[in-house]
Amino acid sequence: METMALSGELVATGLRKWYHPKGQAPVHVLDDCSFKIEPGKLTVVMGTSGCGKSTLAYILCGYLNADGGQVTMDGQLVKEPGSSRLMVFQETALWPWMTILQNVVFGPLAKSNISKEEANRKALELLRKFGLLEFKDKYPGQLSGGMKRRAELAQALINSPKVMVLDEPFRGLDVMTRELMQEYYIKLFEETRLTTVFITSELEEAIFLADRILIMGGAPSKITHTLEVDLPHPRTFDVLASERYLEIKQEALEVLYGDSIQHIC
Ligand SMILES: Nc1ncnc2c1ncn2[C@@H]1O[C@H](COP(=O)(O)OP(=O)(O)O)[C@@H](O)[C@H]1O
Ligand SMILES: [Mg+2]
Repeated sequence: METMALSGELVATGLRKWYHPKGQAPVHVLDDCSFKIEPGKLTVVMGTSGCGKSTLAYILCGYLNADGGQVTMDGQLVKEPGSSRLMVFQETALWPWMTILQNVVFGPLAKSNISKEEANRKALELLRKFGLLEFKDKYPGQLSGGMKRRAELAQALINSPKVMVLDEPFRGLDVMTRELMQEYYIKLFEETRLTTVFITSELEEAIFLADRILIMGGAPSKITHTLEVDLPHPRTFDVLASERYLEIKQEALEVLYGDSIQHIC
């Protein structure tokens, strides 16, 4: 008998990607980019600005085709976007002319695989969980940055995805809100163990959240290093003062900047 496939395993093999901007030389963004996202784990992808993180996220979710290589989810080739792999974009995905509740129920209702009552029930449950119930009839413009990000998480989670791909979701938030959101997300992850690919360029955010960090580098980019983050769960900010955290940070700094520091000195 066949063993049951694990749910939410993404495998990228030999991804290559070029852009061809009009009137300019082609941009070779990814080359031979291979890695595995383990189900039930929070994997952080880190890399400098412009190294191809968003490009990789689009390919993982099926919004963009690679020029070479492939992505599979639970053994199935990823060819197009699907509600089992959901992406929270770098830019807001809330429609400004809809209320928060309308935004959250929109996806499932558009697919019409759920009744309006059921969609509303699920949405209200999520909004309660994210502390947004009393803002359900407000428009995105009336919400703070942190609230908008939480509403976007609710908007994605109502589809019960197997994998969440979050592209720098807390970028642009002030430091305190950002830290609150990190705590929020790690709690949510610990509760659901929803397979997560979390993209960031912030090392401290990466270590705080990750079970594993994949570091992108090179030009064109690939995954150059993998760091295991064996800090205990449930994770709280106390962990930032632990010896193990500092060791991991040191190791990461060497991987990230070792060469360039030597170069400057
Ligand atoms: N549609 C596009 N056309 C041409 N070049 C692009 C396009 N999208 C991204 N790029 C270029 O590809 C590289 C990687 O971009 P991106 O994936 O957005 O990186 P990151 O998310 O790591 O900042 C950058 O040099 C960017 O300028
Ligand atoms: Mg990006």
